[in-house]
Amino acid sequence: MLDVLGGRKRETPPIWMMRQAGRYLPEYRELRARAGSFLDLCFTPEYAAELTLQPIRRFGFDAAIIFSDILVIPYALGRSVRFEVGEGPRLDPLDTPAKVAALAPTADFEKLQPVYQALREVRGALAENVTLIGFCGAPWTVATYMVAGQGTPDQAPARMMAYREPEAFSKIIDTLVDNSILYLVGQLEAGADCVQIFDTWAGVLPPREFLRWSIAPTARIVEGVRAKVPDAKIIGFPRGAGALLPAYVGATKVDAASIDWTAEPSLIRERVQSRVAVQGNLDPLALIAGGPALDRAIDDVLANYAQGRFIFNLGHGILPETPIAHVEQMIRRVRDYRS
Ligand code: CP3
Repeated sequence: MLDVLGGRKRETPPIWMMRQAGRYLPEYRELRARAGSFLDLCFTPEYAAELTLQPIRRFGFDAAIIFSDILVIPYALGRSVRFEVGEGPRLDPLDTPAKVAALAPTADFEKLQPVYQALREVRGALAENVTLIGFCGAPWTVATYMVAGQGTPDQAPARMMAYREPEAFSKIIDTLVDNSILYLVGQLEAGADCVQIFDTWAGVLPPREFLRWSIAPTARIVEGVRAKVPDAKIIGFPRGAGALLPAYVGATKVDAASIDWTAEPSLIRERVQSRVAVQGNLDPLALIAGGPALDRAIDDVLANYAQGRFIFNLGHGILPETPIAHVEQMIRRVRDYRS
C-alpha cells in the first residue's frame, strides 16, 4: 500500500476495508459486549489493539486501521460524547456563539495517549508488509456532529450555523484544524505508516461552502502535518465530492483520494488518478448482495481503476449485516487479479 501511496502502481492492488473492525465480525461483537462502552473500547489500548488486528488475522488485509473514532477529538476538547447502542453518537450540541466562545482551544492530549499506545502495540504485532493507518475526521464532518449533537440526514444544523454564524462556525473549524494536526502527527510518531482524513459529509455542501469548509481546512491540516513530518502519506476521503474531487486533490495535496461508489470513472482516471493514487469504491450493498452481482461490481471497480495507482476498498464503511463469506469472495477475486 505504501508503494501505491508513493506513486507506484501494483499489478494486484492492495486491499483493505473502511470499518473493517466492526459489528459484522463475531469476535468484535464478543469483545464489545465485554468492554462496557464503545469509548472504553477506543481508550483501552489492549482492546483497541486487539480489534485493529482482528480483521488482519481473519482476512490478511494489506492494511490495518487503528480502532478508534473521529469523535475522540471532540471528547478530548472536553465535549460530552456518548455512543448509545443502536443509536449512534450523542454529543452536547455546540450550537450557539456563546457556547463556541467557551470551547477549549486545545485538546487534552492525555486523553488520547491510549490511542498512541494502541498504535505502538499494533505496529509491534503487525508484519512489516502490513500498512498501519491512523486517522481523524475532517473538521467539517466532525463539526457536523459537534453542532447537531448527533448524526442527521443532511447536516442541516451545521450548514445553517455556517450561514448564520460564520465567525463562530469558523472558530470550531479552526480549533479542529489545529488539534487534528497535532493528533495526526502524534499518530505518525506512534507508528502509523500513513493517515486518512474522513470527510464523510463533504457531499452535502454547495461548491462555495465545500471550498471553504472541506477543502481549505483539509489543506491546512495536510500542510501542518507535513511541516512536522515532511514525508507523511495522507489519504483524503471527501465522500460525495463528485465533480469537485479534482479541485480537492489539487488544493489539499493529499497523496491519495478515497472515492465513493457514485464516482464517475473517466473523471476520476483523467483528473484524479493522473495526479494521485485512488482508493475505493465498491458499493457496500454489492458486498451484502454477494453472488454474481458482487463479482460484477468488483470487476467493474478493477476495470475502472486497477490500470493505475490503486488501493481496493469500499466506497464507504462495511455494513453490520454483511456476510463474512462475501468478504472472502471479494478478497479472493481481487487477489487473483493481474493488470
Ligand atoms: O475503520 C475501522 O475499522 C476503524 C474504526 C472506525 C470507527 N469509526 C469505529 C466505529 C473509523 C475509521 C470510524 C470513523 C467514523 N466515525 C466516521 C467517518 C467514516 C464513516 O464511516 O463515515 C464517522 C462519521 C464516525 C462517527 C460514528 N461513529 C458514527 C456516526 C457511529 C454510529 C454509526 C454506526 O456505525 O454505529 C459511530 C460508532 C462506531 N465507530 C462503531 C464503530 C465500530 C460502531 C459502534 C458499536 O459497536 O456500536
